Amino acid sequence: MQGHSDVSIVGGGAIGLATAIELALQGVSVTVLSRNFQEAALHAAAGMLAPQAEGIAPGPMLDLCLRSRDLYPEWINKLESLTGMNAEYWPCGILAPQYEPSASKNWCDRASLDDLQPGLGEEVVGGWWFPLDGQVNNQKMAQVLRVAAEQLGVRLLEGVTVERITHTETQVTGVETTTGIYRSDRYVLATGAWSGGLLSIPVVPRKGQMLAVRAGVSPQPLQHVLFGSEIYIVPRRNGRIVIGATSENVGFVPQNTPAGVQQLLTAATRLYPPLKDWSLEQCWWGFRPTTPDELPILGLSPYENLILATGHHRNGILLTPITATLLADLICYQKIDPLLSAFHCDRFAVT
Ligand code: GLY
Repeated sequence: MQGHSDVSIVGGGAIGLATAIELALQGVSVTVLSRNFQEAALHAAAGMLAPQAEGIAPGPMLDLCLRSRDLYPEWINKLESLTGMNAEYWPCGILAPQYEPSASKNWCDRASLDDLQPGLGEEVVGGWWFPLDGQVNNQKMAQVLRVAAEQLGVRLLEGVTVERITHTETQVTGVETTTGIYRSDRYVLATGAWSGGLLSIPVVPRKGQMLAVRAGVSPQPLQHVLFGSEIYIVPRRNGRIVIGATSENVGFVPQNTPAGVQQLLTAATRLYPPLKDWSLEQCWWGFRPTTPDELPILGLSPYENLILATGHHRNGILLTPITATLLADLICYQKIDPLLSAFHCDRFAVT
């Protein structure tokens, strides 16, 4: 057996690392088991914090997302103070330009959009402005989370492939991996798109292809995230512009495809034409963890000592602070936040 911790977290993405940090801050000894810290869904994301731009309907999911967005400034500040690093949190606001007019509330006409962000495509007729939405640099955030976890004494084990979670009818008894069996008092499953392979839980991969261009002028002129139809453009302050993302039900098929890249470039240059002359810097892809209702699975499981934190679909980066906070409260103080009931796994058949 590979040492003992109070809690083993299976999965080294944003959710797993952030939960490990919150637990460690409460004095819990934590081990994080990860096959590869690079393959987590957070690398597929652009780091948008967009509960309003995503158009999430009023209800528990919107409440969860808004609570998480509200936690961001203080949560990031805590991590940055711990590490001395910068995750590039930027409450820059999100603009959602449209090609068809709308009579719905808070509609901004084209002139108002131009005041906020010059250079939009000529077909844009107006749109919505969400000043409280924003972004974080998800790559930087991944680094900050790892360093913070290390500094707090979390045991981070990479290159560990989990093969099986062993259990009785009511309890998880261990995690069998390629490097041995890990046992602890409690376990957290945070394996994102790979969760369905470890527990009978309806989480499947939804592939997202992405690319980045580098602004050809300095300072780069995009000052807000642009959220269009099936496209988003996320400007970093350093001139990198992240563009995403496709949404493909193709299983774990890797790589970028010409069709995926073409779709992104066509939609992005229609929305913001200056991009077309800037240099293409990188293409990559990732796998979102998606449930049948596209809502996360959070909290208690059929096993008394297993907590679930998966299925965050398009909102993993946004939901990281609230997920980590609610799960640490659940594990340390048996505090069940009322919001968790909407995300319980019993809405699906889980065995
Ligand atoms: N968060 C946006 C996406 O998953 O594409």
